[in-house]
Amino acid sequence: MSNDRLIIQGGKPLFGDVKISGAKNAVLPLISISLLFDKSFTLKNVPDLADTRLMIKLINALGVMTKFYDGVIDFHGEPQNIEAPKELVSKMRASILVLAPLLSKRHNALIPMPGGCEIGERPINYHIDALKQLGAETYLENGFLRATLSQGKFIGNEIKFPQVSVGATECAIMAATLAIGKTKIYNAAQEPEIVDLGNCLNLAGANIKGLGTDIIEIEGVSKLNPITYSVIPDRIEAGSFAIIAGITKGELNLLNSNPNDLKAFFKKLKQTNVRVEVYKNTVKIKGVNEIVPVNIQTEPHPGFPTDLQAQFMSLMCIANGKSVIEENIFENRFMHVPELSKMNASIKIDGNKAIVDGVKQLQGASVKATDLRASMSLIAASLNANHESVVNDLSHLKRGYENFEEKLFNIGADIR
Ligand code: UD1
Repeated sequence: MSNDRLIIQGGKPLFGDVKISGAKNAVLPLISISLLFDKSFTLKNVPDLADTRLMIKLINALGVMTKFYDGVIDFHGEPQNIEAPKELVSKMRASILVLAPLLSKRHNALIPMPGGCEIGERPINYHIDALKQLGAETYLENGFLRATLSQGKFIGNEIKFPQVSVGATECAIMAATLAIGKTKIYNAAQEPEIVDLGNCLNLAGANIKGLGTDIIEIEGVSKLNPITYSVIPDRIEAGSFAIIAGITKGELNLLNSNPNDLKAFFKKLKQTNVRVEVYKNTVKIKGVNEIVPVNIQTEPHPGFPTDLQAQFMSLMCIANGKSVIEENIFENRFMHVPELSKMNASIKIDGNKAIVDGVKQLQGASVKATDLRASMSLIAASLNANHESVVNDLSHLKRGYENFEEKLFNIGADIR
């Protein structure tokens, strides 16, 4: 736990422009595929986040050299080592993303098993099953996963996921890219971050079809060519700032955002009465005096994203009536509820549903940020609240929101 905390004087409408950064959930798999290239690969629009830096360290530990400057990462060389250091993997679950490309390139990998996390158990059985379908052998040894490819290459096959998983779909795509023959993934995740990964690989010469649908077909190719690729804008950051505009009754322009990636979210936001005006790469969000309560259910894309559930709940805390928030992706993703309750929110939990009864205004309190998206929901709530709030433990926030203090400050937030 870090001692960093944010002190917020809320109750003030926020106005101005917010430039949306590159997407955290897209950049982590894109950094992992640097392991698949022979010589060089460059990424642009890279957000400078704690998770980005951890992923770069992991790639470096595996032997690929990097230079990270001004939102650009240059990668050079091929992986030399097959063992992912435990101290890095234990800090970030997304480290498991290196497994498939490492196996593809080195035919062996040794990765510490990632544990559960704040929002639930989050197993990796679908990742392992997918790799086995493509010819890998896997063993568990003292908390490590050892994987080998005895034929020296992945062999294309059919993969049917029992449940939609973003990480497991990424794992299967990365494994199939340089495989021998054709792979067909059924029940694939359709998230924009998956499409981004596939678009990047295709630009480098991969042959991936069906991106953005639930069936993805991949014809293996023998190598990837050096390219430069720009990461998509972070739809979750854009959605978080849209909530901040609504909850503070202000007006924000979300620059460099892609509204098409957030259709389900904007549809619900409009039903709350918050105004959403979509321009080419900009979305204007205008707050209103009275927020209408709206029910949401989190679902895989194109449904309402689980990564915006906590922030949407904060907005519902000041709606004019009752709403029901249903979490269907992770089993323990209501850690923000007791913290919001300290701020005078009225919320009851019933299994995977939270029933929120709106109040006129939240009240300042000292709260603890427990995970990445919960942190943003507490900041949004604090920006609405009267008096002062203290959001403790900002380490989670730094994992996923680039320059958040500066961005809040620039739109007039009273923060210390
Ligand atoms: C990714 C995102 C995360 C987001 C989530 C859902 C990254 C780094 N993380 O996480 O921010 O909240 O998608 O959009 O991009 N499951 C299994 N076995 C597996 C894999 C998943 O049972 O092997 C289950 C999970 O417990 C969960 C569900 O499948 O209930 C979906 O998880 P998944 O889509 O894999 O989430 P992540 O890829 O971990």
